[in-house]
Amino acid sequence: MSKTDVTVLGLGSMGHALAAAFLANGHRVTVWNRTPGKGDDLVAQGAIRAQGPKEAVQASPVVVACVLDYPTLHGVLDGSWDALAGRTLINLTNGTPAQARETAKLHDGEYVDGGIMAVPPMIGGPSAFVLYSGSRAAFERYEDILGELGATHFLGEDAGMAALIDLALLSGMYGMFGGVAHSVALAASGGLDPAEFTTSLLAPWLVAMTGVLNSITDDSPADMQVIAFGNIVAASNDQGVDPELLSHLTTPFRQMIGPDAAGLTLEEMLNR
Ligand SMILES: NC(=O)c1ccc[n+]([C@@H]2O[C@H](COP(=O)([O-])OP(=O)(O)OC[C@H]3O[C@@H](n4cnc5c(N)ncnc54)[C@H](OP(=O)(O)O)[C@@H]3O)[C@@H](O)[C@H]2O)c1
Repeated sequence: MSKTDVTVLGLGSMGHALAAAFLANGHRVTVWNRTPGKGDDLVAQGAIRAQGPKEAVQASPVVVACVLDYPTLHGVLDGSWDALAGRTLINLTNGTPAQARETAKLHDGEYVDGGIMAVPPMIGGPSAFVLYSGSRAAFERYEDILGELGATHFLGEDAGMAALIDLALLSGMYGMFGGVAHSVALAASGGLDPAEFTTSLLAPWLVAMTGVLNSITDDSPADMQVIAFGNIVAASNDQGVDPELLSHLTTPFRQMIGPDAAGLTLEEMLNR
C-alpha cells in the first residue's frame, strides 16, 4: 500500500525530528523551513525541499506544522490558507487552547491540534507520546502516520483540548523542575555536590514519589504535610536559600487541606 505524502513546515529541533521519522517510515516528505540549510540532511535522505510555504502545502494532503509559536505559524501560513483549504492541517506547535481553537477556525479543512510529550531524540521511540484533539475523522484516517511519531492520545473534537492537557502536563514537569532547583540549592547549602546529590538521592526519591501521585494524602495526611512544608520554608531561610518559589505553594496546599483552610495564610495553617 502506498504511503501518504506528508509535508512538514518548520525544521527546528522538533520539526526536523518529525520529518526524519516520516522519511524513515517511507513517506514522500516535502519540507519547508525559513532557514533552508536546516533541511540539507533531510534532502540528502530523499526529502523534497519546497521553495515556500505555499508550494510545501500544495505538495501533500497532510500538512504537519511545528514552528516556534502560533504567531509564527500564522505568519508562515499567511498567503497559503487558500492552498491549504481541503487538506488536513496537523499543528504540533505549542500554544494555548484559545490559539488552537482560533487556528481551527482559520483553516478551511480538517484541523487536528497536537501536543508533543517528548524531546526530539525521543520521536519515533517507545517513550514518546503525542496528544491530539480536533477533527476525529482526520485523526482516525491518519492515526497510523501519527503513530510513527509516538503513541497517540485523542482527547476529543474540541481543538483546544490537546493544548490544555499539554500545558497541564508541562505544569507538572516545570513544577518538578522548580522544586528540583530549590532542592539542589538546599542540599548545596549543606555542602553536598549538586550532581552527586541529584543522582544518588533526588532522582530515586522523585521516581519513588511518582508511585503515590494518586494517593498523595492517603498515608501522609495533608495537615502533616503542611507542617513539613513550613519546615522547608524555615530551613531555607536559615540556610540563606530563597524560599520564594515554595512559598507560592501555599494555595495548592490550602486546597489539599480543604475548604476550611481557605483564606488562611501559611502561618495560620501551621498554627491551626
Ligand atoms: N524541542 C522540544 O523539546 C519540544 C518538545 C515538545 C514540543 N516542542 C514544540 O515544538 C515547537 C518547535 O520547537 P523546536 O524545538 O523545533 O524549536 P526551534 O528549534 O527553536 O525551532 C523553531 C522553528 O520555528 C521557526 N521559526 C521561528 N521564527 C520564525 C519566523 N518568524 N518565521 C518562520 N519560521 C520561524 C524556526 O525557523 P528557523 O530555522 O528559520 O529559525 C524553526 O523552524 C515549539 O512550539 C515547541 O514548544 C518542542
